[in-house]
Amino acid sequence: MCGIVGYLGFRRADEVIISSLKRLEYRGYDSWGVAIGNGKLSLVKKVGAIGDVEEYSIGDGTLGVGHTRWATHGKPSESNAHPHTDCKNNIAVVHNGIISNFQMLKEKLIEEGHEFKSETDTEVIPHLIEKYYKNSIEDAVINCIVNLRGSYAFVAMCANERKLVACRYKSPLILGVGDKEFFLASDVTAILEYTSRIVYLQDGDIVILTDDGFKILNDCVEVDRQIELVPWGIKDAKKSGYDHFMIKEIHETPKVVEDTLSEYVSDEIELDVSFAAGISEILIIACGTSYHAGLIGKYVIEGLTGIPVRVEYASEFNYHPLLVGRPLAIAITQSGETADTLEAMKKAKKFGARVVTITNVLGSTATRIADHTLYIRAGPEICVAATKSFIAQLIVLYVLALKLANLPRHEINELILELKLIPERIQRILDAKDEIEKIAKRLAKFENMMYVGRGIGYPIALEGALKMKEISYIHAEGYPAGELKHGPFALLGEKTPVIASVIEDPTYEIMLNNIKEVKARDSIVVAIANEDDKEIDKYVDWVVKVPKTNPMFSPITQSVALQILAYYTAKERGCEIDKPRHLAKSVTVE
Ligand code: G6P
Repeated sequence: MCGIVGYLGFRRADEVIISSLKRLEYRGYDSWGVAIGNGKLSLVKKVGAIGDVEEYSIGDGTLGVGHTRWATHGKPSESNAHPHTDCKNNIAVVHNGIISNFQMLKEKLIEEGHEFKSETDTEVIPHLIEKYYKNSIEDAVINCIVNLRGSYAFVAMCANERKLVACRYKSPLILGVGDKEFFLASDVTAILEYTSRIVYLQDGDIVILTDDGFKILNDCVEVDRQIELVPWGIKDAKKSGYDHFMIKEIHETPKVVEDTLSEYVSDEIELDVSFAAGISEILIIACGTSYHAGLIGKYVIEGLTGIPVRVEYASEFNYHPLLVGRPLAIAITQSGETADTLEAMKKAKKFGARVVTITNVLGSTATRIADHTLYIRAGPEICVAATKSFIAQLIVLYVLALKLANLPRHEINELILELKLIPERIQRILDAKDEIEKIAKRLAKFENMMYVGRGIGYPIALEGALKMKEISYIHAEGYPAGELKHGPFALLGEKTPVIASVIEDPTYEIMLNNIKEVKARDSIVVAIANEDDKEIDKYVDWVVKVPKTNPMFSPITQSVALQILAYYTAKERGCEIDKPRHLAKSVTVE
C-alpha cells in the first residue's frame, strides 16, 4: 500500500526517484508525486500511472522524495497525492501507513492557523513539522512524531536544508547505502538498480541522511544497524522480454523450487525443527494467496504427521485469537509486511505460541516478530498476483511436514526424490502453455466461473479462482465439489463454466460423479488432470493436462497450470494483469 522513496546523493534526484517509484508501483498506483529540493521545493503531483521523467520539469536537484499512492484517506486526486507540504511549501513529506489520530491533530492545527490542501491523514505531518521547525528538520521531526498515533514510514525534507529525515513505525522502510549517495524506500526492489547494500530499519528508527553519511536514532539514542547485502539483482526486477511480470515470474518457478529446496534438502532434509518440539496444535495465519498455501499445508501436515492444523485468515484471527495447549503458529507471508498477518503473529505470541514465519523478504517485519524464519527463495515478485512465491511457500510446507512426519525412512526418501522432480514437471507445463492458452481464449468471454475440487483439490480450486478473479475480473468462486448441490448448483448452466481439479487419490471416483452432475446442468467443464488420465476426457469439454506426480504434490503442478490459465484469460480480455485495479501487492494497513 503506497510506495515511498527518498534520495540524497550526486545524481539527478528526479530520475532516481521516478525510476524507483516505477518499481514500487505494485504497492499502489492511483496517483504519484515527487518533490525535489534545491534551495526551494519543486513539486509534481499527478493522478494515474507514473510518467516519464522527460515529461515533467521537476527540477535538477540531487535531493528529493517521491510517492506512489493507494488511496486510504481521500480519493485519488492531485491534491490528495503525496508529497504533502506545509503552509509555506517549504517542507515536503511522503508517507505510507495511517495516522489514526489525524482528525484531532488536523482540527488543532487548523485552530492554530494552518491551512490544509488535502483530505489525507498524511498532511498533518508536514504541518506538525512546520509547527516545531526552528532551524533543524531533524529536531522538528522528532517533536512531530511524539504526536502521531497509527502506523507510518515517512520521509521529510525541508527546502533549505540538505538533509532527509525518515521515520519508521509499523510500516516498511529500508535504507540503501551507495557510494556517496543514500536511498530510502518501502522495499528493496525499488533501489536494486543503484545498490544492494541495505539497512533494514526497525520500528522507532529515525534516519538522518546528509552528504556526510547516515545516523540512526531510536528512543533518542544513536543505534548501530548492520548493512546487509541482498542477494537480488536488477534483472530480477525487470520484465526481461516477457509481456508481463506475471508470466515471467511463472516461468521462474522451476528455478525457485530448486533454490528453495536446496535451502532445506540435500540427500535428506536439513531443517532444524526444534521450534516444533512438544507442540499439540499448529495454527497457520496468513492472507490472500498465502492463506491458500496454508490450507494446502493443513492437508499435507495433518496427512503426514497427525498434528491438528487450524488455518485462519489473519484478519479474522485478530478478533478471536484463542489458542490452547502448546501451539506453534506459522505465519505465511510473501512480503513479510502484511499488516493483518503481523498483528496476528503478535497476538499468537501473547497466547504463548512459538511463532515461525515463512517469508520471501530478508529482514522484513515478520522476520523480526517471529521466533524463527523459514525463507522461501523466490526472488523479487513484482506482479500483484502471487505465483512463484505461492509455489515456494508450498515447498517449504512440504519439507516441514516431511521433517515432522513419523514415516519410515525409505518412504521419506521416495517423497524427497519426487519433490526433486517437481522443477522438471513444472517446466513441462510451461513448455505446453500454448495448449492452456487455447482454452483460456475460449473462457475469456464468460463473466462467471466456478472452481471445484475435493480434498487437497479444494484449496487448489480456491487459489485458482482467486488468480482468475484478481487479474481477469471474471467473477470466480472456489467451492468444495461436494457442496455444489447445497446451493451453487442454482448458479450453474451454459454461462458458467466449471473448472475441476481432478486428483488421482481417493477423491477421484466421487469427483467424476460430481463432474457428471455439473454436466447435467449444461455447464462447460474444464478439468485439470493427470496427463495419463484417459477416463476424464469422456466426461468433460476440455482438459488441461499436467504431469503425473504423487497426489500430495498435485497442488504444485495444478496451480501452475491454473496460474497460466488465469494469465492468458486476462490477457485475452485486455486486462492490466501485473497491476489489477484496486489491488496492491503489499497490504500494510489492516
Ligand atoms: C495482497 C496481494 C496477494 C497476497 C496477499 C498476502 O492481497 O495482492 O498477492 O497473497 O496480499 O500477502 P503476503 O505478502 O502476506 O503473502
